[in-house]
Amino acid sequence: MKKKSIRDLNLNGKRVFVRVDFNVPIKEGEVTDDTRIRGALPTIRYIIENGGKAILASHLGRPAGEPDPAFSLRPVAAKLGELLGKKVAFAEDCVGEKAESAVQMLEEGGVLLLENVRFHVGEKKNDADFSMALSRLADVYVNDAFGTAHRAHASTAGITEFVDEAAAGLLMEKELDVLGKVVESPERPFVAILGGAKVSDKLPVIKSLIEKKVDKLLIGGAMAYTFFKAMGYTVGKSLVEDDMLETALEIKKSAEDAGITLLLPTDHQVVDSFDPLNSRRIIPIDFMNAGLVGLDIGTETSAIYKKALEGAKTIIWNGPMGMFEEKPFDEGTIAIANAVAEATDEGAFSVVGGGDSVAAINEAGLADRVSHISTGGGATLEFLSGEELPGVAALDDA
Ligand code: 3PG
Repeated sequence: MKKKSIRDLNLNGKRVFVRVDFNVPIKEGEVTDDTRIRGALPTIRYIIENGGKAILASHLGRPAGEPDPAFSLRPVAAKLGELLGKKVAFAEDCVGEKAESAVQMLEEGGVLLLENVRFHVGEKKNDADFSMALSRLADVYVNDAFGTAHRAHASTAGITEFVDEAAAGLLMEKELDVLGKVVESPERPFVAILGGAKVSDKLPVIKSLIEKKVDKLLIGGAMAYTFFKAMGYTVGKSLVEDDMLETALEIKKSAEDAGITLLLPTDHQVVDSFDPLNSRRIIPIDFMNAGLVGLDIGTETSAIYKKALEGAKTIIWNGPMGMFEEKPFDEGTIAIANAVAEATDEGAFSVVGGGDSVAAINEAGLADRVSHISTGGGATLEFLSGEELPGVAALDDA
């Protein structure tokens, strides 16, 4: 069902309450990846240009339902101001007197960021009173937080019960449009690359991709070891989900039955668990022994996966190929980032989602060589799995 758009709203002089997803990594008070903030800029600029007052609300991290300076959005206000080239006001609370007086002081075309909505227990409980308190700041409501659209919380869902109009922001629309096309009518060959630690996290999306008869499914990251163990390989001390072994075999079989090429790594970077610093090497998968831990795909696998992407017309990639956060075990993920960019140059439509895959694309300086960087992690996976996102469902129909 098509949803109402911010473009359908009259914003002039209105208090436009925008749920954004500014859940960004922050180190020592500095935002270290501003992809999600940049993603919200078109909506914020649209409000400014149309004479509205932009009142931005977001969560950051997972605080315990009470104020906690470690999860303050203040550093994000500074970063947003820098990116907008305009002062961004900050309110120390997202409801009550502090928030209401900050909103009152806002001029037309002004931008205000509210403090973390998860400083209140009512947010995650989708509590009606808290939703109503948020709605007091709004003449109209816009949800631009695609990354949080899989959560039915007060600021993403409950608030819509208390406002006259609830519409999708420009980022939300773009994500739904791009991902919708990939789900509904992907140009083929369609190749999916899935990585990350756990099969269980990716299970719904794997099932849905198999149902949609993706042409190739490339698996990397620690989740590959669950497949290997299920297939009878020795996986040493590598991460395995023992309760997913049967599921892994079922996935393999259903992919085979559907004629899908399912690729698993052929080699990997391992370390000896007793001497991790000095023992790094690349070995074939089947030469694994009990003391080794697999931490990344090997160079042969990177080359095979790159070849598998040749000629692809649609690519989706979610999840790192190894322990990306620890150099040099980011090499496989960076190699895949390059392979996706090259396939895009050759005509593929590529969509990258999930924090580590997006970080790899950014780190390798390839952001403008992929077709779409999704701001969602869990939300992207749920959408690709065919699930309805509560934050979208709650918006007015067009
Ligand atoms: C995300 O980073 O995936 C979203 O911001 C949602 O965060 P959450 O998993 O803490 O709800």
